[in-house]
Amino acid sequence: MDAMRTLTVNLGARSYPIHLGEGLLPRAGDLIRQAGCGEKVGIVTNPSVAALYLGAVEGSLRRSGFHVVTIVVPEGEEHKNLGSLAMIYDRLIAERFDRGSWVVALGGGVIGDVAGFAAATFLRGIPYIQVPTTLLAQVDSSVGGKTGINHLEGKNLIGAFYQPRLVIIDVDALCTLPKRELVAGLAEVIKYGVIADPRLFGLLEEKLDRVLALDRKLLLEIVAASCAIKAGVVEQDEREDDYRSVLNFGHSVGHALEALTGYAELLHGEAVAIGMVQAATISARQGLCDEKSLRRICAVIEKSGLPTEIPVNVDLKELVRGMEVDKKSVGGKIKFVLCRGIGVTEFRWFSLEEIAAQLAA
Ligand SMILES: NC(=O)c1ccc[n+]([C@@H]2O[C@H](COP(=O)([O-])OP(=O)(O)OC[C@H]3O[C@@H](n4cnc5c(N)ncnc54)[C@H](O)[C@@H]3O)[C@@H](O)[C@H]2O)c1
Ligand SMILES: [Zn+2]
Repeated sequence: MDAMRTLTVNLGARSYPIHLGEGLLPRAGDLIRQAGCGEKVGIVTNPSVAALYLGAVEGSLRRSGFHVVTIVVPEGEEHKNLGSLAMIYDRLIAERFDRGSWVVALGGGVIGDVAGFAAATFLRGIPYIQVPTTLLAQVDSSVGGKTGINHLEGKNLIGAFYQPRLVIIDVDALCTLPKRELVAGLAEVIKYGVIADPRLFGLLEEKLDRVLALDRKLLLEIVAASCAIKAGVVEQDEREDDYRSVLNFGHSVGHALEALTGYAELLHGEAVAIGMVQAATISARQGLCDEKSLRRICAVIEKSGLPTEIPVNVDLKELVRGMEVDKKSVGGKIKFVLCRGIGVTEFRWFSLEEIAAQLAA
């Protein structure tokens, strides 16, 4: 049997394990049984992920004696909406799910967010398990309990903090991920290196080629390091009152870029990569980040195949306005996460004029 390692997100009564390894999807039944799951389980997934992994997960759950219901919602960010949520509720009600029944989110961040929110709200909350299959979901969205859906007016406008009972991360799933999605997920891993872990950052610098070639041991190492950092931040500030926003390094510019380009041109990680270059550059100008660290950050982003420049068709004034409407602005000032070299961060508040001047420089 493949080795498995386990991290814990320590949140008192809401603590939960993150199991990481290779070959874990076919063992999901056992792992979920050990977590104390009731007899009825609803697996929420989408058609692409279902074609690849539903058979293994469903088979494993059935072999472990669970009554399994599969709920396949349409694919894509545009379906992280009320329609998919309603579809999940309808099935859970039709199948007579009760408070002892559990939900399993099998897929990327879209599935994790919508299935998590369904679990958070159905019967005022039933337990759920994250089984993330994209790199972004494995290192970011499956840990920390942010769940929700989009509204036509904006992303993630409706949601809840609701922690899963268990996270099962099988790095084997990353082998079928389109390269562009893998690389986009890598942006978040680079982010963890910059904000908290010089060792992880060094590993990426040194062994990026092997990561991109899907070396399982390395993937496991970078995913585990990322989850450990995310867990540590969430343990300190579960509901993002303050410190959790350290995870937004590169995201002020990134979110605004995504919105401005209609969520079509850039994947989230790509927008964040550009945002990280901006944040690191501003950090250097503020005298916080030394030139060598700045060069290293830009180099690893570029070497990953991620974009580093704000697209030429983006108007800087609109970009700054986009940052103002983001959830993180207060009284016209924007909280920016800057870096002191690699591994340490600092918050600074900037007015819109100051940001505009920085981006134009
Ligand atoms: N809750 C949080 O804390 C949090 C954090 C970051 C992002 N998010 C959310 O996550 C979403 C983005 O997640 P994502 O980047 O995982 O995108 P995604 O869920 O849309 O997945 C990307 C694509 O990859 C496919 N896919 C998934 N796993 C696959 C696999 N193993 N092999 C082949 N194809 C696979 C999916 O079907 C989809 O087409 C956004 O909605 C974002 O708001 C949430
Ligand atoms: Zn992100």
